[in-house]
Amino acid sequence: MNDKNKSKILVTGDRPTGNLHLGHYVGTLENRIKLQDTYDCFFLIADLHMLTTHQDKVDSLKENIFELVIDWISVGLDPNKSCFYLQSRIPEISELAVLLSMLCSVPRIQRIPTLKEKIAAMNLSENYSLGLLSYPVLMSADILAFNASVVPVGEDQLSHVELTREIGRRFNSTYKNILNEPEPLISKVSRLVGTDGQGKMSKSLNNSIYLCDSEATVKKKVMKMFTDPNRTSADVPGKVEGNPVFIYHDIFNNNLEELNDFKDRYKKGKIGDVEVKDSLVKNINQFLGPIREKRSEILKNKSEILDIIIEGSKRAQEQASKNLELIRDAMSLVL
Ligand code: TRP
Repeated sequence: MNDKNKSKILVTGDRPTGNLHLGHYVGTLENRIKLQDTYDCFFLIADLHMLTTHQDKVDSLKENIFELVIDWISVGLDPNKSCFYLQSRIPEISELAVLLSMLCSVPRIQRIPTLKEKIAAMNLSENYSLGLLSYPVLMSADILAFNASVVPVGEDQLSHVELTREIGRRFNSTYKNILNEPEPLISKVSRLVGTDGQGKMSKSLNNSIYLCDSEATVKKKVMKMFTDPNRTSADVPGKVEGNPVFIYHDIFNNNLEELNDFKDRYKKGKIGDVEVKDSLVKNINQFLGPIREKRSEILKNKSEILDIIIEGSKRAQEQASKNLELIRDAMSLVL
């Protein structure tokens, strides 16, 4: 184990909105698995963030929280190495969000691209909630409450880490120089295209392959996958670049010789989609095999999941409350 950075804190997390998919894996989970041996990792179950967009969908919230933790463990995040915690159980995070909101203008937040995208996607126009508007500040509080040094995220979250750094700097120059400016860590593949080839893999677009999908489901989804739209039959030369089937092959097929042969024949119109897809099904199922095994192991001891969340949240709260003491002190909020 490399202990060089073990004293450095890493914070990242996910919203509990449903199962994680291959896009999450290549976008951030793969990165986290490696980083948990090098950093003191805090993995956040962002339930308050989930409420900023799904405030009326709380029926499935508990189930989603458990599913998220099961997904994490199934890919190799380890609650014995890292801290898994539930955001709403750490009131210090919410308190810090209030304090930080004084250091940030409303127009600055309104310019954040992901916020604009969410408002447009949900058709909210001017009617977005105050909670939604302030979620980037809540995310800054998630990170600064632990005085994190690094934040591994997908590319889409970069603007939030930038805001966090800005708020941290403003805090340091206004009160006392105690907050780190956290570095974002971006994965090598930060956006995986969906099976429809249209946009990034996302639950709402129904174009995802989930980590918990069965072999048969993976097969069904891959067989329906979008390829080169101009290729009407197997003897028409096809495009490899930007073709979702080949994008997935590049990630999940380790047999370079086979893959180069597929690409070569595809470009010449000498291979059918089915052969390329059959191999992709095999490779994705091979990749998901150990993840499925781990999942079924965890499901035998489901009651342990609750303990993991409660214990992790306790540890996270201890850490955040120490930092909050320093922050309150710097802001003269201590009598
Ligand atoms: N906003 C992130 C997302 O939607 C989740 C998240 C919440 C997060 N708080 C965080 C990520 C803190 C990194 C650090 O995916």
